[in-house]
Amino acid sequence: MILMKDIVYEGDKRLHEVCKPVELPISDEDANTLRSLLEYVVNSQDEEFVNKYNVRPAVGLAAPQIGVMKRMFAIVCYDENDKLFVLPLVNPKILEHSEEKVYLNGGEGCISVKRPTSGLTPRWKWVRIEALQWNYKRKVFEKIRTKLEGYISIVFQHEYDHLDGILYVDKMYNKLPDCKPVVEEAEEENEKPEEN
Ligand code: NI
Repeated sequence: MILMKDIVYEGDKRLHEVCKPVELPISDEDANTLRSLLEYVVNSQDEEFVNKYNVRPAVGLAAPQIGVMKRMFAIVCYDENDKLFVLPLVNPKILEHSEEKVYLNGGEGCISVKRPTSGLTPRWKWVRIEALQWNYKRKVFEKIRTKLEGYISIVFQHEYDHLDGILYVDKMYNKLPDCKPVVEEAEEENEKPEEN
């Protein structure tokens, strides 16, 4: 089980390394790592678990954030239209992206970044992606191709950047006049924004 002591924090050079592709067929060890990433994200959204283990809530977690330098991450979040995304992904690729850029209203967060930040990070409005997705019902990996837009696209790009050794704070600006804001659902409800 991943807890805060297992998290790699800003200042550790591993967060600035490019991760290696996961070898296929996916080994049991790699599949277990992906499942533990997914488990952390799910647990971190459970208030009881958060209080018991003092973990920070997240909508996503990438393998390098626990020191595994391989291209995989897990996302669990609702988008601005209340659609649930559960994306435990291996070897994700961005096939195509919009020209238009957006940013998350209020800025992004990351459990690897402990300090408060206030800048904005530009993201593509939409990305067309390909990946191997863990199907937790059928217990197999399946190749997926899909278009992600708005909030979920921002979350995906945040996690994808981790695989290339990039943190959201590495490309943070005070103002982004050429980009439109995407309002996080949680913010509309005046809840504490979740981190990824
Ligand atoms: Ni992050």
